[in-house]
Amino acid sequence: MSAKLKQRTSLIGLSLGADLCWPACYEAILERMNLSVDMGHETVRFATERVTVEPFDLQQPVRYDIVLDRLTHWFTTSREWIKKAVVMDGLYVLNNPWSLQSMEKQTTYAAMMRLGLDVPKTWMIPPREHEANPDVQSTLNRYAKLFDIGSVADKLGYPLYMKPYDGGAWVGVTRIKDREELQHAYNSSGKRVMHLQESIEDFDVFVRAVGIGPQVEMIRYNPDKPLHGRYEVGFSFLTGEEWSLLTDQTLTINGFFGWDFNSCESLRRDGTFYPIDFANACPDFQVTSLHYYFPILVKNMLRWSLFCAASRHRMRPTLDWEPYFDVQRRDLPFRERLAAYADITRERMETERFKAFCETHLTHLDEVAWEFFGDPLAKGIIRDKVSAMYPQHEIEPFTEHFWGLIQFWRKTERDRLKARDEVAE
Ligand SMILES: Nc1ncnc2c1ncn2[C@@H]1O[C@H](COP(=O)(O)OP(=O)(O)O)[C@@H](O)[C@H]1O
Ligand SMILES: [Mg+2]
Repeated sequence: MSAKLKQRTSLIGLSLGADLCWPACYEAILERMNLSVDMGHETVRFATERVTVEPFDLQQPVRYDIVLDRLTHWFTTSREWIKKAVVMDGLYVLNNPWSLQSMEKQTTYAAMMRLGLDVPKTWMIPPREHEANPDVQSTLNRYAKLFDIGSVADKLGYPLYMKPYDGGAWVGVTRIKDREELQHAYNSSGKRVMHLQESIEDFDVFVRAVGIGPQVEMIRYNPDKPLHGRYEVGFSFLTGEEWSLLTDQTLTINGFFGWDFNSCESLRRDGTFYPIDFANACPDFQVTSLHYYFPILVKNMLRWSLFCAASRHRMRPTLDWEPYFDVQRRDLPFRERLAAYADITRERMETERFKAFCETHLTHLDEVAWEFFGDPLAKGIIRDKVSAMYPQHEIEPFTEHFWGLIQFWRKTERDRLKARDEVAE
């Protein structure tokens, strides 16, 4: 039967900057899977290509079925090529470029406060310095109210955080313990528009929940460690209910903003989770920070992108917030409300169809990835990444360090697969 089906090769574009390791692993595993997926009306095979930067005709057709993008948030040419490709050709891109361009931390805080998440109290402060242009001057002369930053801080209490309203990568973030430090931090903030935010003190768990489509991976995070040790390998730092709550919270955020790939940071204090930073729609995807979790995220990216490419999952250029607000207006207890938000996202992400796709067509992914991450080729990719980041004398020890953690993942993964197979029997 399948011999008569129409054949299609689905082209997956990788729009990349400094990323070395995940694309190389993604491509190698995909090749080893040698997929030919029977979608009922057609057979789909897959190929990847690195998207290049070059002049383009706004009307030139797009060859890709999906683009996995890592440049949009800062590289204008690629972002604008992607936006035109979505508008003109219906390209599926991960993540939504308009949402990435326009949703800063500030909007995500406000939206999630409205939906009822426990975002810490936050104020926005007009910047210390402004552009020296006549319009700005006359606007300020007419309308800028003199304010005492100290009395805003008093409403939040010390310690508190000053951080850019559109922040990322920890730039410009200051922990402040009194009025003097506050004044100093504000005086040094220049033209950046800042938030003052209540600090969540004495938290006992810091979680980064990384969503890729409907799949959410929970990783314990320790901001005090050096970069290679911040993601901590841990297995029982959350209860089942907490895991489910953070999954629903992440899906709520990601569905609301049209982000297929995003990392949501929450701090747990006295059993409550406070989301503090969840506008990270180009999350860290480097083996040099993710180590143990790296193969898991590579697999999650393969599953979700292959599903989107094969099924022609529909790109949503517009965000459509109303259904979330409709749920918010219903007088439900918070946990039920959160589950209802997450269900909207699950439906938008065609979660049931996605699961069926994985169970039918990607059954050998686990095995192929397990073999791959024990292969010298994978070790070479890790060494390349380490070489790009570390000084010469640290290349070997750090390659061994990350390789060792990946071998530890293979050990736990083998146990997981064995347990799964035993349940299936
Ligand atoms: N409200 C807060 N309470 C406690 N710690 C915070 C708070 N806000 C930020 N931090 C600390 O500062 C770090 C950087 O702040 P974050 O909002 O995540 O900025 P970025 O977008 O630069 O990652 C966080 O990882 C956390 O360690
Ligand atoms: Mg952060």
